[in-house]
Amino acid sequence: MSFDIATYRSLSKKVDVDDIDFESFRTDPLDPEALRCLRYMHDVESHTVCYLRDVLVTRAHRDPELTTFLTLWNYEEFWHGEAIARILEAHDEVAGTGRIAALRRKLPSSEKWKPLSFQLASAITPHLTAVHMTWGAVNEWTTQAAYARLAKLADHPTLSELLRRIMKQEGRHIDFYASQARSRLGDSPAAQRLTRWALRRFWSPVGTGVVPEGEVDFLRRYLFGDHDGQAMAERIDRRVDRLPGLDGLHLLGGAVSAAA
Ligand SMILES: [Fe+2]
Ligand SMILES: [Fe+2]
Repeated sequence: MSFDIATYRSLSKKVDVDDIDFESFRTDPLDPEALRCLRYMHDVESHTVCYLRDVLVTRAHRDPELTTFLTLWNYEEFWHGEAIARILEAHDEVAGTGRIAALRRKLPSSEKWKPLSFQLASAITPHLTAVHMTWGAVNEWTTQAAYARLAKLADHPTLSELLRRIMKQEGRHIDFYASQARSRLGDSPAAQRLTRWALRRFWSPVGTGVVPEGEVDFLRRYLFGDHDGQAMAERIDRRVDRLPGLDGLHLLGGAVSAAA
């Protein structure tokens, strides 16, 4: 199924939170584990613009369909971060600009070399975009699954409603990245080989390198450590298996069992 960028352009918008009662968290607060997940999700959503920077230095920026999507995707992810910030603030936690500034000050030094390394890699191979699109599909699948698991585990009506709206937008991100990955991998055995190698060598759960390693481990265990979580991780692995040339990578299952 191909992705219709014109439809996405007309549907894309800031996630609607006008009728979300954030004050309800003051009388009915979330448990510490759910809040810990939301801090992670806030930080990762807010980091989207930095991923965008890394992709735009590659030849992906020459493709207007890609840049249209990336512009709107970044806007939607920004508002996901802001919506989660309002939940954290309702629990009297620092969120939004203050938290993001502190996070960026603590990023590992390797982060500053990413644009240069992506730019160089893109000059060497025309298939880096296939890697980025596949990476995006895996991360969007994982993000949507993580929100679904959090909604179930936290069992909080206001949180569930907000996450339902965010997940609907994540679903469209999945559709884009997965359709791009399918067509770019399907067209080229060389793109398949490069993407397979890159995922095997470098892939780790979204948020790795941005938030502390202990938080990544906590999230893997908390959201995907039980039977339902493992089943969800295996489902994502099966979706990756169905992409051209990527069967048997076992990325999510491997990440979950590593945390266990
Ligand atoms: Fe998001
Ligand atoms: Fe997304």
